[in-house]
Amino acid sequence: MAMRRSHVIRYALEQYKSYRVPNAAQSLPSWYTKGTNGSLDSWSRCVHGSVALTQKKAGRVPLSSERFPQLKRGDFARVTDGDLQVFERLVPSRVLTEPGDIEGHNVDWSGTCRGAGQVLLRPKTTEEVSAILRYCNGRRLAAVPQGGNTGLVGGSVPVFDEVIISMSLMDKIISLDEISGVLVCQAGCVVDKINEALEPHGLMTPHILGSKGSCQIGGNISTNAGGLRMLRYGNLHGNVLGVEAVLANGDVLDCLSTLKKDNTGYDLKQLFIGSEGSLGVVTAASVLCPRIPGAVSVALLGCDSFAQVLQTYDAAKKMLQEILSAVEFMDRASMEVVQENLQLTCPLGAHRYYLLVETSGSNAAHDEEKLNSLLGHVMEKAMVDDGTVATEPSKVQSLWALRENVAVALRADGCVYKYDVTVPMSRFYDLVTDTRERVGSDATRVVGYGHLGESDIHLNVTCPQHSEDVFDALEPWVYDWVAKCKGSVSAEHGMGILKRDYLYHSNTGPAVLLMKQLKERMDPRGILNPYKIFPD
Ligand code: FAD
Ligand code: MLT
Ligand code: ZN
Repeated sequence: MAMRRSHVIRYALEQYKSYRVPNAAQSLPSWYTKGTNGSLDSWSRCVHGSVALTQKKAGRVPLSSERFPQLKRGDFARVTDGDLQVFERLVPSRVLTEPGDIEGHNVDWSGTCRGAGQVLLRPKTTEEVSAILRYCNGRRLAAVPQGGNTGLVGGSVPVFDEVIISMSLMDKIISLDEISGVLVCQAGCVVDKINEALEPHGLMTPHILGSKGSCQIGGNISTNAGGLRMLRYGNLHGNVLGVEAVLANGDVLDCLSTLKKDNTGYDLKQLFIGSEGSLGVVTAASVLCPRIPGAVSVALLGCDSFAQVLQTYDAAKKMLQEILSAVEFMDRASMEVVQENLQLTCPLGAHRYYLLVETSGSNAAHDEEKLNSLLGHVMEKAMVDDGTVATEPSKVQSLWALRENVAVALRADGCVYKYDVTVPMSRFYDLVTDTRERVGSDATRVVGYGHLGESDIHLNVTCPQHSEDVFDALEPWVYDWVAKCKGSVSAEHGMGILKRDYLYHSNTGPAVLLMKQLKERMDPRGILNPYKIFPD
């Protein structure tokens, strides 16, 4: 079969801005619309302007306290009128208590967790965060830090009545050093906004993810978000050079270094990368930002066996080397869901598997030559059955849209059980096949997509609404499956509330003990994001 060339048009650096799908996830309140009874029983949203989901009944999201009846509210104080008066002094006119203002902040993006938080605070400065936590700690009021609320493990919303500390107003860029590429900004900066600010300087964030229109750098750091550029730039443990965080007792820990090399004792900032708001509130960060590549191409390839997928991945690494910037995976069911639920168009026919291979470099002619020779090779060796290549920005964006919107498209099915796991490359797709066999026709779809370059498979199972039978078939079976092959039960989304019972599946007893000791040392009253990460 002949390889189709969509376009071979080189584009200038300044056009790069339009290359990613903007706003795959908007802020939550804008896409949930209130039902007549004030509950979140219907929703609608729009994906990058042209693709709209029609209104669907999502059903009332059950309270987490009802969904997890085994969870008992901790021995925390309850917010009183006196507390509200103090908060009003600490963050004047930025204390929200109206249920209508808060309900979107109580429900997570997936619509699976709903807290009963009654107060939301909107600090603008590190000093305000410090004053809030000092007060909460003294009163023993539990608090949950919230960024863009796009997290997928129920970590960003209260479980009971925790005070919500929204970071959205802490959205200032502090400094940018164009030569070193080091950006310093407040934690509430949204990723898309950061990229808008970086773009005139020829720089971009080292990470990008489908939720970039809403997620914040502080949330990314707290979840150690992976995303679509990790194959090239690595994870945030390497790219975050410094963190400023407020500890549970209100002390400000200034580890906001901008140095690439600094071996003076323990690297404390790492504690806040991936600790999901349980050890402190990240208030600012310095991030190493790479240069925007001068040339980007994307190939979408169709394969009909998983062996072909692995061979193609291997060939891409060998033949593209330094210009390879992403290898993303979708199965047929993932491609179907973006077509059916979002009316996106796939330029290829039906295949069992799809690979999206991206190159980024500085010389379009050189990169094109390398990509062409890879494509010639994989076609000739019958590793790939069909493919298309795009270099023109809008075409590149359309191909990326297919992959980036899988999560959004799945939401339209109703209820989604999401599993984000790392498994050995040889077992990458077996989990999906085994799950499909296990749940049979009880599910609407069983899909597999993810970051092949990191061996991170997103297994998602959808149903019209929550089904005890499907859920019981999935958990703990999925996590046991992953543990048996020595994978990780959370590749990039964290533990939150939804995975906390499985922490030991991917960590030894002594490792969890040390984590708990750290938590107790840094937050002795346990006020920061309680009920998350650790099983009881
Ligand atoms: P939130 O969801 O608000 O919070 C996440 C966690 O961090 C919570 O535990 C919260 O308490 C804590 N937190 C937030 N801000 C702070 C702070 N300043 N200080 C301390 N704790 C804080 N994730 C990936 O890794 N890769 C992807 O490719 C990816 N794609 C996605 C695509 C879509 C469409 C969606 C909806 C989600 C996707 N995610 C992905 C998941 C999510 O976007 C990430 O986990 C993201 O990092 C969360 O950022 P946030 O600002 O929304 O944080
Ligand atoms: C993705 O890679 O698309 C995100 O992690 C979201 C998801 O897992 O659904
Ligand atoms: Zn992902």
